[in-house]
Amino acid sequence: MIVQEQVCLKDKHSFHLNVSARYWAEYQKTEELREILQDKRFDKLPVLPVGGGCNILFTQDFPGLIIKSAISGIDVLHENKDEVLLRAGSGLDWDQFVEYCVSQAWGGIENLSGIPGLTGASPIQNIGAYGVEAKDVIHSVEVFDRQTQELKVLPVEECGLAYRNSRFKQEWKDRFIVCYISYRLNKKPFYRLDYGNLKEALSSQGGLQEGPDAHSYNLALIRRTVLAIRSSKLPDPDVLGNAGSFFKNPELEASAFALLAERFPELPHWKLPNNKVKLSAAWMIEHCGWKGKSLGRAGVYPKQALVLVNLGAAQGEEIYDLYQQIAADVFSTFGIRLQAEVVIL
Ligand code: EPU
Repeated sequence: MIVQEQVCLKDKHSFHLNVSARYWAEYQKTEELREILQDKRFDKLPVLPVGGGCNILFTQDFPGLIIKSAISGIDVLHENKDEVLLRAGSGLDWDQFVEYCVSQAWGGIENLSGIPGLTGASPIQNIGAYGVEAKDVIHSVEVFDRQTQELKVLPVEECGLAYRNSRFKQEWKDRFIVCYISYRLNKKPFYRLDYGNLKEALSSQGGLQEGPDAHSYNLALIRRTVLAIRSSKLPDPDVLGNAGSFFKNPELEASAFALLAERFPELPHWKLPNNKVKLSAAWMIEHCGWKGKSLGRAGVYPKQALVLVNLGAAQGEEIYDLYQQIAADVFSTFGIRLQAEVVIL
């Protein structure tokens, strides 16, 4: 374990802003994590756990200690003919983990192909895409409890995973650090293909196969198709710094939505089970004229209006100002306050 001082964060987060952290440490084992957190040097400083830094906007240098998991390993905890229970370290690259599971013909996360970041973020953010969320496959989360200095296993039901949210982002923010995640994956063919144009995109690739050996082929095809859809809409953070969707899609009561729909009948929306409706924030941003526009060195990605990008050497504050202006315009047009999905520091 190495602790570094005055570390440039440019290559350590996906907005690639020129900011620094007072201290930076990576740990490969939970013992090392314990050691770092017991180090007297950091007693009074803020501590920020990060994964790939793919969901953070730094508006200034970080004055404390940033810790990053490099805990690796994938172990099969239990297996039968229908499913497999895996335990993965929180420092694995998420997409490499998905690729590995697909290569083993373990299904459930193929729709989550191409999401940047580490496995450790999957329960925190409840990462989601193309009709699947991490909460559909997570079984439990092993955390380091900063209060008791002990490891603890939390069943997923206790973790409050919701749309891009969890208790880890709320009341547990300064308490638990995710070390391992257990996922329950399928060996039987069961696919989620109802999101957007996923089915059509699969058909244009020859479609899913049937038969006893088709599962492996189908998972790989879904993965390839999702990767292709993503790369057609979302910028590669290593080319154009960004943090994926900057905004959450807002949720409204069905009755409030009915009034809004009278004024904006084309607003894309999805019915939720609890008499609520989820709205496309991207559409609202686009309707306000922001898609492809920029403010200083911060821009709205021309192919997906939810994504704010660093056009090159932007300051965090420029991205923040763009976010504020977009949110203000959406509020004055639709009466809806967009919330940032990204953590702003
Ligand atoms: N749309 C627009 N303008 C745009 C983009 C989209 O009007 O610029 C409308 C279209 O009508 C489209 C609809 O919004 O049919 C949905 O678009 P898309 O499938 O791209 O999904 P999204 O709601 O914009 C969400 C997630 C993405 C995820 C995709 C696919 C959030 C905040 N974002 O975006 O997640 O990849 O669905 O599942 O929920 C991320 O979290 O970083 C992320 C990229």
